[in-house]
Amino acid sequence: MECFGSRLVLLHAFLLLLSLQVRSDDLLQGINSFRNSANAPALVKHDKADCVADEIADKMEDKSCASNTGATMQSQLMSDYPAVLSKCEVDVNTTTDGMILPVCVPKRTATLVLTNYTQSQNAKYLNDSKFTGAGIGTEDDWTVLVLTTNTRGGSFASTAHRCQTHYYVLPILFLLSLAFVY
Ligand SMILES: *[C@@H]1O[C@H](CO)[C@@H](O)[C@H](O)[C@H]1NC(C)=O
Ligand SMILES: *[C@@H]1O[C@H](CO)[C@@H](O)[C@H](O)[C@H]1NC(C)=O
Ligand SMILES: *[C@@H]1O[C@H](CO)[C@@H](O)[C@H](O)[C@H]1NC(C)=O
Repeated sequence: MECFGSRLVLLHAFLLLLSLQVRSDDLLQGINSFRNSANAPALVKHDKADCVADEIADKMEDKSCASNTGATMQSQLMSDYPAVLSKCEVDVNTTTDGMILPVCVPKRTATLVLTNYTQSQNAKYLNDSKFTGAGIGTEDDWTVLVLTTNTRGGSFASTAHRCQTHYYVLPILFLLSLAFVY
């Protein structure tokens, strides 16, 4: 049963990826060129951080955009969001060094979203070379960036017991997802 659930999540993630990839990738690319100019290594897309960013963005959706940026927080504060942790199956003990950076820009205008990260107090996290991975979630006007490290304290490790996904499942998922898209 649990394995079936995780396969559904996998399928969901796959579909989400198909529909969101371009925009998040553009933002990540912008952030990485900012890091390049600060001599910080590029951030690599991190799946768990992506999941967390999506879920937090879901929570932000109802919040007013008037204040423009949500509070930047250390990702251990996700313990306030038990549903996020359990849905993404992240061990909260591996999130203490991570950061969650929410930003609100009407219509998520691409250039404004990027400058809201690179030309604000957020910049000091963005140019920090201790961060190595990133996840991005979007919902309405909100963009949520989650930063991870390559130390255990910020690795966003899985709580899940590995369930055996048989390899034949993957092509079936792929075909299913095509059926959804077309
Ligand atoms: C996280 O750390 C606390 C305290 O050190 C421990 O009680 C808890 O079991 C840990 N959680 C996980 C999922 O390892
Ligand atoms: C951040 O976005 C807001 C729109 O929500 C914009 O008015 C503001 O100029 C942006 N700030 C920066 C530093 O880009
Ligand atoms: C990172 O940004 C902070 C504040 O924006 C600045 O003080 C610091 O010098 C920057 N570090 C690098 C390596 O560019």
